[in-house]
Amino acid sequence: MKQTVIKIRGIVAILIMIIAAYQIISGIGMWLVNRGIVDAPGMAVFFYRSHPSIGFVFLIVAITHLTLNRKLLMSDLKVLRKKK
Ligand code: HEM
Repeated sequence: MKQTVIKIRGIVAILIMIIAAYQIISGIGMWLVNRGIVDAPGMAVFFYRSHPSIGFVFLIVAITHLTLNRKLLMSDLKVLRKKK
């Protein structure tokens, strides 16, 4: 059981990295098209459709990530609150 949770935690963390990379790439892509620096209507349509939807998936994955790591997060926050 514990092994499974650790595996899921790892998969979720990797998903966050992949999704963040996609959001950055598609965000830059849309910005370049908006600015007229790049003229690629097909790519623009694809990014305009996928960026907000993947952004929503990101929100779900981020909430899952925080839930799975809440114990670690809480202990880190405790250390921050401790006076030297
Ligand atoms: C997890 C991170 C992100 C989320 C959840 C997210 C979400 C969104 C959403 C929902 C929109 C649509 C807004 C609309 O329909 O008017 C949007 C637009 C946009 N995003 Fe992101 N975004 C993220 C990261 C980024 C990054 C890193 C960049 C730049 C490198 C970026 C650049 C843009 C641009 C330029 C637009 C405007 C497109 C336009 O309407 O002209 N985004 N984003």
